[in-house]
Amino acid sequence: METLDAIKSRIKVASYADRPIPEEVLEQILEAGRRSPSSRNQQRWTFILVQERDTLQRLSRVWRGAAHIADSAATVAVAAPPSDDPRTIASVHFDLGQAMMSMQLAATDLGVGTRHASVEDWQLGAQILGLPDEWRLSWMMGLGYPADRDVKPVQSHNRKPFNEVVHHERWGG
Ligand SMILES: Cc1cc2nc3c(=O)[nH]c(=O)nc-3n(C[C@H](O)[C@H](O)[C@H](O)COP(=O)(O)O)c2cc1C
Repeated sequence: METLDAIKSRIKVASYADRPIPEEVLEQILEAGRRSPSSRNQQRWTFILVQERDTLQRLSRVWRGAAHIADSAATVAVAAPPSDDPRTIASVHFDLGQAMMSMQLAATDLGVGTRHASVEDWQLGAQILGLPDEWRLSWMMGLGYPADRDVKPVQSHNRKPFNEVVHHERWGG
């Protein structure tokens, strides 16, 4: 799939099909995360691929918006080192966001749907995944073939109008 088509095809999965994702497809998605750029190339991330149903169900409890993880075919749990410094926190999360986006576009290219999940109860996440103290569960990316659609460009999506968010040369231009 062309990159621009992948960008237009990526929307959050409404419901996951009960169909496994081949290992080589999962590997390519994870490789996209690993190859992502990061501030000073620090790569402050770890990607944990979860496919066991029991673990997916337990992970779905780390945030009230994470229920969909229980039904995903697989989920990438993204962990990073915690920090008390606001600039470091912002920098880490910017990097994680880029890695998440790389994985989403790779998944879309391979016909796999994606959906983010935030994390509130990171202590529960750490316990489920056996994370060492110096790592914290930060985000999750649910993966699965969509049950209700083929992965192809959507014509219109719920976004603010182009002219409202894009300007030329100066504010309002
Ligand atoms: C930082 C971030 C956190 C998100 N957290 C959740 C979440 O916890 N649960 C969920 O179902 N979707 C989550 N989403 C998905 C967004 O709700 C979704 O991307 C947004 O509504 C736009 O829809 P789209 O992905 O179909 O374009 C998150 C997205 C982002 C970027």
